[in-house]
Amino acid sequence: MQLPTKTPLFDDLKALVGQPVAAIDTPALVVDLDAMKRNLSRMAEFAKKHDVRWRPHAKMHKSSAIARLQMQAGAVGVCVQKTAEAEAMVAGGVWDVFITNEVIAPAKLARVARLAHRVAAENGQLAIAVDSTEGIQRLAQAMNEARVAGNAGAVIDVFVEIDVGQGRCGVAPGRSAVDLVHEIRKHPALRFAGLQAYHGRAQHLRSAQERRDVIAVAAQDAAFTRKLIEAEGVPVDLITGAGTGSMVCEAASGVYGELQAGSFLFMDADYAQNEPDPAQPRFEHALFVKTQVISSSVRHAVCDAGHKAHAIDSGLPRVHSFDAERELEYANGGDEHGILRPAGASVRVPEIGRTLWLIPGHCDPTVNLHDHLIGVKGGLLKGKVDKIIRVDARGALT
Ligand SMILES: Cc1ncc(COP(=O)(O)O)c(C=O)c1O
Repeated sequence: MQLPTKTPLFDDLKALVGQPVAAIDTPALVVDLDAMKRNLSRMAEFAKKHDVRWRPHAKMHKSSAIARLQMQAGAVGVCVQKTAEAEAMVAGGVWDVFITNEVIAPAKLARVARLAHRVAAENGQLAIAVDSTEGIQRLAQAMNEARVAGNAGAVIDVFVEIDVGQGRCGVAPGRSAVDLVHEIRKHPALRFAGLQAYHGRAQHLRSAQERRDVIAVAAQDAAFTRKLIEAEGVPVDLITGAGTGSMVCEAASGVYGELQAGSFLFMDADYAQNEPDPAQPRFEHALFVKTQVISSSVRHAVCDAGHKAHAIDSGLPRVHSFDAERELEYANGGDEHGILRPAGASVRVPEIGRTLWLIPGHCDPTVNLHDHLIGVKGGLLKGKVDKIIRVDARGALT
């Protein structure tokens, strides 16, 4: 007898297409495709209105199919954080990719250089961030070695990353960045493409005013650095950055020309806790973990989605409620279980078999726990499975 495989295979899942939502087994990661499409159109409209490019971060959805959808909606390309994510995007036919991160290991840089040649052959473009002379020299060496190995002379776009307050990668704004620009310009296989000025911490500052204040300083730092570089006769074509929490500030700054926001497409429970900025488009939750109650007692129920089904680094998931009332609280039940408690005296403990929808605390690491996204159209209650989307950059960590 042939035993069923542990994880649902793509072909098995494909049999769900056309079936009602009720047919999706639990736990499963489900995308409300209608909500996702609305988020996408609102982003496209917003970028157009502010005359900025958008290059969404694909480390969030890790899917080349979704990246292609974003580009069809007007995105100029996608961002990724890892070389392996870039490889997955390119393998999926996405030809304009920016690695918004420093890559240092020679073995990885050899892959970056091969990829730069691969996308150039398709008239695409690869870009990367740097924040050190050492990093630039290693990148240039890898690009030259790839050329010697028989590839045509591709050029990689290089962004100097400045630290505008996050305290992660990036050189200090000002003179150090100018020095790196000069270093990049020594190497014919590298093109200085602009500055990356991303402020990650600003994304989750709860008050809209605080986010505005922090990004005002970031924009000043970026503008000042641009001025110094241009004073030496080198144009700065683009300043890129911004995430979902602060993008309205970068867009309005007149300094940033490109938005890298990623989470807007799925919107997690953590982002829902930010005080909304009136200038921000209304982004809806589009990513859910479908779960069901497997045990129920007088005080609580237990569902089949624990922290192997959703990430908990930014807090526990929220139980989605279809009528604005908050009915159930989710508490940590370990890897495979969630504890559900009524949020008020009038709420009943859910019965065995009841289906629930969880809004993950943090979308990026949640997606990375799943091989597939199940795309639903027509709503979570009465809709149908429309497509199965491969998370083809799942686990792409190198
Ligand atoms: C460099 C960079 N740009 C953009 C983003 C996108 O942010 P978000 O998904 O919060 O919109 C991130 C997220 O961590 C990032 O690291």
